[in-house]
Amino acid sequence: MSGGRNGRDAIRAVGASGVPGVNGTVEILVEGEAVSGRAGQTIAGVLLGSGRVAWRGAQQGERGVFCGIGVCHDCLVTVNGVEGVRACQREAVAGDRIEREVRG
Ligand code: FES
Repeated sequence: MSGGRNGRDAIRAVGASGVPGVNGTVEILVEGEAVSGRAGQTIAGVLLGSGRVAWRGAQQGERGVFCGIGVCHDCLVTVNGVEGVRACQREAVAGDRIEREVRG
């Protein structure tokens, strides 16, 4: 259900400024909670940096980053309403709204 390359084009069009915050930080909302990371980090990087190691529900248990290179899809999240975004491939943009996904 993602649009464009990993949903990136569609996601950038949904009001994200793309402008790094103070001191090169970027703040995103994870399940409604404000989480800060470094500008240029992937969403997975920001999530891991905040202490989250799993964020996607699956029959086999909770998933997070496995390959880290866009192959396994274990890290899928919904970003600004776009499902199926690989958190390890998508740069975090200020104001992104991240929601967990539950998939088989
Ligand atoms: S961790 Fe494998 S695709 Fe993101």
